[in-house]
Amino acid sequence: MSTISVIYFSGTGHTQKEAEAVHQGAAAVVGTTTHLIGINGDDIVKGRYKNDTVLATLDASDAVIFGSPTYMGGPAAQFKAFADATGERWYRSAWRDKLAAGFTVSNGPSGDKLSTLQYFFTLAMQHGMIWVGMPETPMNAQGINRLSSYSGVMAQAGNESPDVAPNAADKLTGELLGRRVAEAAQRWQIKA
Ligand SMILES: Cc1cc2nc3c(=O)[nH]c(=O)nc-3n(C[C@H](O)[C@H](O)[C@H](O)COP(=O)(O)O)c2cc1C
Repeated sequence: MSTISVIYFSGTGHTQKEAEAVHQGAAAVVGTTTHLIGINGDDIVKGRYKNDTVLATLDASDAVIFGSPTYMGGPAAQFKAFADATGERWYRSAWRDKLAAGFTVSNGPSGDKLSTLQYFFTLAMQHGMIWVGMPETPMNAQGINRLSSYSGVMAQAGNESPDVAPNAADKLTGELLGRRVAEAAQRWQIKA
């Protein structure tokens, strides 16, 4: 039995759709308990995020999957406020050896999404977590991992509404990441 949490911020709904797909993939793995947690801007007061219930849920998770739109070439400020609030966990090495992964959504095919994934990676490394990437080989321009990102999942919003973007291929890519993390968490537990 393992527990996977997907924690994300979404301003206008695109990243939420991708988060739901990632969560669906994790939940499909037998023996997995999942949490889908949106970062609520109301929990940020004077620039500082505070939600002890959310942080306790992540403490009790075997894997944490980070998600944010790419804003100005990096994670949204709301996600960064959440990340800064994990500093006390960093001090105690509380998240050491949990699995970690990430996904991001932005307008452009690139849009500098890699910077956001690299921030998630650095956050995970500061916590001593184990990074899980996206190994799917892009076979065509409209298929799984069509944006060719191996560090984590990239999805595209374009100028579409969240009802149609991210598209089915990007959501399937997210689903596969969620499944991969959940399967890895079960293998990691056996060995731990
Ligand atoms: C403040 C701001 C900065 C943005 N910066 C970028 C960017 O650097 N690259 C990009 O491709 N899109 C950028 N966008 C577009 C968003 O990434 C895109 O609208 C995304 O779908 C937002 O996700 P959300 O609907 O989950 O909030 C930006 C949007 C905003 C509001």
